[in-house]
Amino acid sequence: MSAQSSPSFYVGDLPVYGEAILSPMDGFSDLPFRAMARRLGSAMSYSEFINAIDVMQGHPSVPQKIAYTAAERPMVFQLFDDDPARLLQAALRLRQHEPDIIDVNMGCSAKTVAGRGAGAGLLRQPAKVAQIFSTLSRALDIPVTGKMRLGWDDDSLNYLEIARIVQDNGGQLLAVHGRTKKQAYSGEANWEAIAEVKAALSIPVIGNGDVRTLADIARMRRFTGCDAVMIGRGAIGNPWIFAGLDREDVPAEQVRETMLAHLESMLEFYGAQRGLVLFRKHASRYISPFRLSVEQRQQLLTSQTAADFTRLVDQMSVAELAPA
Ligand SMILES: Cc1cc2nc3c(=O)[nH]c(=O)nc-3n(C[C@H](O)[C@H](O)[C@H](O)COP(=O)(O)O)c2cc1C
Repeated sequence: MSAQSSPSFYVGDLPVYGEAILSPMDGFSDLPFRAMARRLGSAMSYSEFINAIDVMQGHPSVPQKIAYTAAERPMVFQLFDDDPARLLQAALRLRQHEPDIIDVNMGCSAKTVAGRGAGAGLLRQPAKVAQIFSTLSRALDIPVTGKMRLGWDDDSLNYLEIARIVQDNGGQLLAVHGRTKKQAYSGEANWEAIAEVKAALSIPVIGNGDVRTLADIARMRRFTGCDAVMIGRGAIGNPWIFAGLDREDVPAEQVRETMLAHLESMLEFYGAQRGLVLFRKHASRYISPFRLSVEQRQQLLTSQTAADFTRLVDQMSVAELAPA
């Protein structure tokens, strides 16, 4: 959405402008993708989730995960862990890199995360959630926020309890993905539950789940009353949603330019080899609406150099680049 003069909401004292935000997505919401989304209109930037253990052990992946540009602010670093003390230590350490916000992941459904009581696993431990938020919000001089699911499964939908705990213990914003841990990504997101959370809290609430079009953004906002909408899968290969454009309305030339600029910034950030490999999953989503043969798609997605990829795109006609 375009820049606006009055903030949509505040996280503590921090003004946020805009109603759509790129979701944190492991393997996707890195600096190149976030910076582009933010430039197009995403209202703030969330890092991919970062394991507190990795922060404390100095894992080599951490510096890239916490790299950001000044233009991305407000910049949110998202952490996950099941150990409140280690989470606090990691948050304090990351604070030195001057994020605007520290966010606690209470939504990851992956077995390796939720299974050890981190991510959505925290939803089964309300007392620990209280401890995490009260400790972090007291120890940090920047806002602490959370991102959660609705509960572990349909028999333990404790989202209102967790939401109130977050707010009562100093949390300054809550993003809610309208699914349970057990659902993972199946079924439909429950927007009614998001509306209930919004009605119950005074801190800002971000609605999340199944937003893919501009109409969805408006519908989610109207239906839930949420302060902003977070877009994950629907933004991959479709960052123009943050600029107020649905994918089918983006001219082919603009798709081409944005896609190649994205590739360029990935090469710069990760180096030629890794940048190209990591770009392929974005590329497959950028090209999915194109009228291309199976062979053309395959050729593009297996290009061995960025120059090959660019040459193939350049050779494609406007008709081929038009949405099917
Ligand atoms: C590939 C992938 C990686 C994700 N990684 C994270 C993450 O690191 N942190 C997080 O809070 N949520 C993560 N999520 C969840 C999304 O932020 C979001 O809550 C979920 O995809 C629902 O929104 P959507 O329907 O707009 O995709 C991830 C989702 C996907 C698909």
